[in-house]
Amino acid sequence: MRVLSGIQPSGSLHLGNFFGMMKKMIEHQEQEDLFCFIANYHAMTSVADGKQLAQGTLEAAANFLALGLDPEKSTFWVQSDLPEVQELAWALSNFTPMGLLERCHSYKDKIARGIAANHGLFAYPVLMAADILLFQSEKVPVGKDQKQHVEVTRDIAIKFNNAYGDIFTLPEPEIDDEVATVPGIDGQKMSKSYGNTIDLFQEEKALRKSVMRIVTDPTPVEDPKDPDKCNVFQIYRLFLNKEEEKSLRQRYLAGGMGYGEIKEELFVTVRDFFAPYAARRQELLADKDGLRQILADGRDKARHAASKTLRKVRKKTGLAY
Ligand code: ADP
Ligand code: TRP
Repeated sequence: MRVLSGIQPSGSLHLGNFFGMMKKMIEHQEQEDLFCFIANYHAMTSVADGKQLAQGTLEAAANFLALGLDPEKSTFWVQSDLPEVQELAWALSNFTPMGLLERCHSYKDKIARGIAANHGLFAYPVLMAADILLFQSEKVPVGKDQKQHVEVTRDIAIKFNNAYGDIFTLPEPEIDDEVATVPGIDGQKMSKSYGNTIDLFQEEKALRKSVMRIVTDPTPVEDPKDPDKCNVFQIYRLFLNKEEEKSLRQRYLAGGMGYGEIKEELFVTVRDFFAPYAARRQELLADKDGLRQILADGRDKARHAASKTLRKVRKKTGLAY
């Protein structure tokens, strides 16, 4: 099955990105025909500094590769290395009702937070639809916040198919309920834009600080605590198997365990879990040309897969004459 997803290179990687999306993607490469890309066109909606975007793109690539994405088993590229996707986005725009985009939560949330509405932000889901449809993707693993964008993609694809015949496969979002929304240190959804993240690759001191800042209630040490209402537990459980989660739950319910103690444990767990990946990431970033070569090979593979769809689109729409 063809599985596709992308991640924006706009900022450092946090636990929400890892557990909400990347981990699943990397697991998929064993069984599925995995397509994975760095969504740098999308990142332009929030990054207006060229150096930062270029550096962020290489870092995002190094992150994925360090965490285990294998460019031999999957197709891994940078979105802007295949500008053909913009041609498809334009074609799709003509089948995208304004109302469909106006209803997008992600757009509405950004406007509500005071981000200036521009066309890039508004048309973002159309470009995302082009990413998905260009490769005839069947499954799209994303966090809950992106589910609506996959539904928008389906709506656009249906309209396009109605006009020109069955060109596009209709994709399904894949959302893992266990980790649908990873909470941030304040209990809201973990997100770069809320400043509440725990980042994967950071100095030990900074990591410890962000774990210690996780908001907890003032229940005294000796009292029993409710794990389901605790932000530390909700984050900790992502690293645990069922048995370990059960025994942590019992420690909460028994009382006598302070939040400081459990935060210290969580810090050590996060640090030790990501340490080997951090080392691999540094190696990759030390050889930028090697990294660029991996991405160039990925681009060629992706271009080959895209060309079939594009030829059909050009023919059916009359762009090829
Ligand atoms: P952010 O909200 O920090 O800007 P992105 O929008 O770049 O993160 O998200 C990249 C990927 O990670 C998407 O698939 C998104 O759904 C997923 N993701 C981001 N934050 C979370 C979270 N808190 N819980 C689960 N998945 C998340
Ligand atoms: N919008 C996604 C995000 O912010 C990134 C993305 C761009 C994407 N194009 C995609 C995800 C296509 C899945 C499929 O997380």
